[in-house]
Amino acid sequence: MAELIPIISPEEIQKKVISVAQHISTDYEGKDLVLIGMLKGAFIFLSDLVRHVSIPVQIDFLRVSSYGDSMSSGNIKLTHPTQMDVAHRHLLLVEDIVDTGHTLSYVINHFQLRNPASVRICAFIDKHERRETDISVDYSCFTVADGFLVGYGLDYAENYRELPGIFHLKI
Ligand code: IMP
Ligand code: MG
Repeated sequence: MAELIPIISPEEIQKKVISVAQHISTDYEGKDLVLIGMLKGAFIFLSDLVRHVSIPVQIDFLRVSSYGDSMSSGNIKLTHPTQMDVAHRHLLLVEDIVDTGHTLSYVINHFQLRNPASVRICAFIDKHERRETDISVDYSCFTVADGFLVGYGLDYAENYRELPGIFHLKI
C-alpha cells in the first residue's frame, strides 16, 4: 500500500510562494519578463506565484515529456513548445521540482538558441541529492535532499496533483 507522509503544509507553501514572488518582482523590476511554466507539474505553483508578483509579466507554458519510468526523467522531448517570441526578453522557467536537472538543462539549451536576454530557473522544490548537471536553481521555495514527493501539482503516475500540501510518497 502506498503511504503519504505530510511534509509541507499549505500554509508554509503560501508563505514561501509570496516571498519568492517578492524576490522576483524586485529582481526583474523594469525588465521584460516572461514566466514559462513547465506542464503539467508547475500549473499550481505558477498560478499561485503570478498572483503575488507585483510587476507586469507575460506567461506561457511548455510541455516536456520524458520517456523513462514514472519517477525519473528518461529521454526528453518538447511536446508543446512555446510559440512566444523570446528574443531579447528575460525568461524565467517555472518548474515543479528539479531532481537530476536533465529536464531543465535540455530546456535551457532549447531557449539559448532563440537569443533571450537571460534564462533563469524558479523551482518550487530543489531536490539536490541526485543532481547530475551543473544548472543553478535561481529561486526555490523549498530544498529537500531526496525522496519522492507528491501534491501541489507534483504527481506519481498522474495521481496526487490535487493535494494542497506536499507529501512524501512511500511505496
Ligand atoms: P530531472 O530531469 O531529473 O530534474 O527531473 C525533473 C522532473 O522529474 C520533474 O519535473 C518531475 O516531473 C519529475 N520528478 C522528479 N522528482 C520528482 C518527485 O519527487 N515527485 C514528482 N515528480 C518528480
Ligand atoms: Mg515536471
